[in-house]
Amino acid sequence: MSAIPVIAIDGPSASGKGTVAARVAASLAWHYLDSGALYRLTALAALQRGLALDDEPALAALAAKLDVAFLEGMILLDGEDATETIRAEAIGEGASRVAVLPTVRTALLQRQRDFAHAPGLVADGRDMGSVVFPHAPLKIFLTASAEERANRRYKQLIAKGEKITLSQILQDIEQRDARDRARSVAPLQQLPDALLLDTTRLSIEQSVQFVLDHWRAVSAA
Ligand code: CDP
Ligand code: CDP
Repeated sequence: MSAIPVIAIDGPSASGKGTVAARVAASLAWHYLDSGALYRLTALAALQRGLALDDEPALAALAAKLDVAFLEGMILLDGEDATETIRAEAIGEGASRVAVLPTVRTALLQRQRDFAHAPGLVADGRDMGSVVFPHAPLKIFLTASAEERANRRYKQLIAKGEKITLSQILQDIEQRDARDRARSVAPLQQLPDALLLDTTRLSIEQSVQFVLDHWRAVSAA
């Protein structure tokens, strides 16, 4: 087992996991893993190659060889900037479809664990605490109401010029969450050893402070 401390932050779509995890990592000067980006990159690479999103053997082979790089604020796929492309709602939907395939998940497992370097890692996704880093000393289940999450994602996508309505986003989010919770492998769930952080009425700063306070308590114990 790795001795590198990990803070695992899991939760549903658009709850603010990525924003909070990245800020906690910056505040502690730790590494950060956006595991959802790997599923989004797999979906994007599959669509670019014309692969069906249920062709499990082809997708697992693709995920195993995925040529990706996480640079300072930039994500490259096959050497091309994919930072913004993978944030489209259609790619999120594709990601949740490839994410139900067990061999795709296995193909991405070690790549995620390889992010754990000293002095520590903050990782966000759906199965950080259950599968990827089950021994993480601090696990957080970060959520918000579906309406609040749809509002947050709506503002994000509209600012990027995506043509989508709030009700379409709410429907997409609910469908994606249902698929993430219902799948047989690594479903989205609140683990018994995870702390619940409901951010519906919290600012980003309050959410970051919650995680930092709990990390201080855990590391002092
Ligand atoms: O990673 P995840 O899909 O869970 O969410 P995100 O991309 O980090 O956050 C979605 C949006 O919600 C971002 O624009 C955040 O700035 C915003 N947000 C917020 O308004 N209030 C919070 N407490 C947390 C996030
Ligand atoms: O930003 P948002 O929370 O909507 O999604 P994301 O974290 O970028 O993840 C996109 C999709 O990848 C999710 O809907 C999940 O189906 C899948 N995923 C997963 O299965 N396991 C993870 N650790 C991270 C993401």
